Amino acid sequence: MKQVVSNKRVLVTGGAGFIGSNLAIKLVELKANVTIVDSFIPEYGGNLFNINPIKNKVKLNISDVRDEHSMKYLIKDQDYLLNLAGQTSHLDSMQNPYADLEINARAQLSILEACKRYNPEIKIVFASTRQIYGKPHYLPVNENHPLHPVDVNGINKMAGEWYHIVYNDVYKIRSVVLRLTNTYGPRMRVKDARQTFLGIWIKSIVDGNKILVFGDGKQIRDFNYVDDVVNAILLSAQSNEVNGMIFNLGADDPINLEDTAKIMIDIARTSSYELVPFPPDRKVIDIGDYYADYQKINSSLDWKPQVLLREGLKRTIEYYQKFRKHYYD
Ligand SMILES: NC(=O)c1ccc[n+]([C@@H]2O[C@H](COP(=O)([O-])OP(=O)(O)OC[C@H]3O[C@@H](n4cnc5c(N)ncnc54)[C@H](O)[C@@H]3O)[C@@H](O)[C@H]2O)c1
Repeated sequence: MKQVVSNKRVLVTGGAGFIGSNLAIKLVELKANVTIVDSFIPEYGGNLFNINPIKNKVKLNISDVRDEHSMKYLIKDQDYLLNLAGQTSHLDSMQNPYADLEINARAQLSILEACKRYNPEIKIVFASTRQIYGKPHYLPVNENHPLHPVDVNGINKMAGEWYHIVYNDVYKIRSVVLRLTNTYGPRMRVKDARQTFLGIWIKSIVDGNKILVFGDGKQIRDFNYVDDVVNAILLSAQSNEVNGMIFNLGADDPINLEDTAKIMIDIARTSSYELVPFPPDRKVIDIGDYYADYQKINSSLDWKPQVLLREGLKRTIEYYQKFRKHYYD
């Protein structure tokens, strides 16, 4: 990857958020010329502290991907667009469906239109989500699984990814789509459960409060440590063999939520957990058990997660023990 991004211009939308900032830090390490676009809407994951380690080494443009005029100038002259800006809360997408539609669907279309008109040579990687599968019909879920989103966010992310595929196929705007599963690690939003329930669990652990596990705790999930996701994005960016393709990310160690809580408690040696009934507004959009088959990206790009859950959780908890004041104090 080094030769590929070194001295190249890379635009990271959502670059002050959780995954985007870890990606931007890696890109700077690889000597790319990075521009970050982020709107810093307070309910989302953007946080200036996330990009503190690279603050003098990147261009930061505080704008909204819904602003077509800004995006036109930002997209011009870039070699890569790593497209991560998004509204990520499932619950918020039900309570404020139009904002989700504007960001996750309409803005994606206008970003692609800007690429088509002003920079058709650009290479894009789009961060999609496993949420678009809905409740799994079978496990592990591969890319051929039917798409049946259970919330507005899933529908809009599905549109967002398919716009990328259509623009790849019809206009040859090179795009790759990654369907991310639950991602965790340093720089995630932990002040509430907007990004993922793991965020609020980490806060509870760091504060020595009880973790609340919804339902019977037996729901299975697969988790990726953020460095593995960053690696998948970079591998997808560098390969032209995979243009127009959609890949699941996943993990080798799916685990139920109760056991996940136990590992976290064991690492921190504080706190405890309690099984509590699902809040009704969450229950209706819950997908039950999920874990992905990531064979396709493994055989196409040789991607495989490297960080096991216990190690990743340890690094994450240590990060928030040290830096919590930048995330919620
Ligand atoms: N974290 C996960 O578990 C996960 C799982 C599946 C998919 N994803 C996808 O990965 C991407 C990154 O997610 P994340 O976990 O880093 O979340 P995040 O909220 O930390 O990052 C998203 C960033 O986009 C920015 N943003 C939101 N709306 C914007 C707008 N209109 N204009 C400009 N910037 C805007 C936010 O400020 C934030 O910094 C998202 O597209 C998300 O759907 C994440």
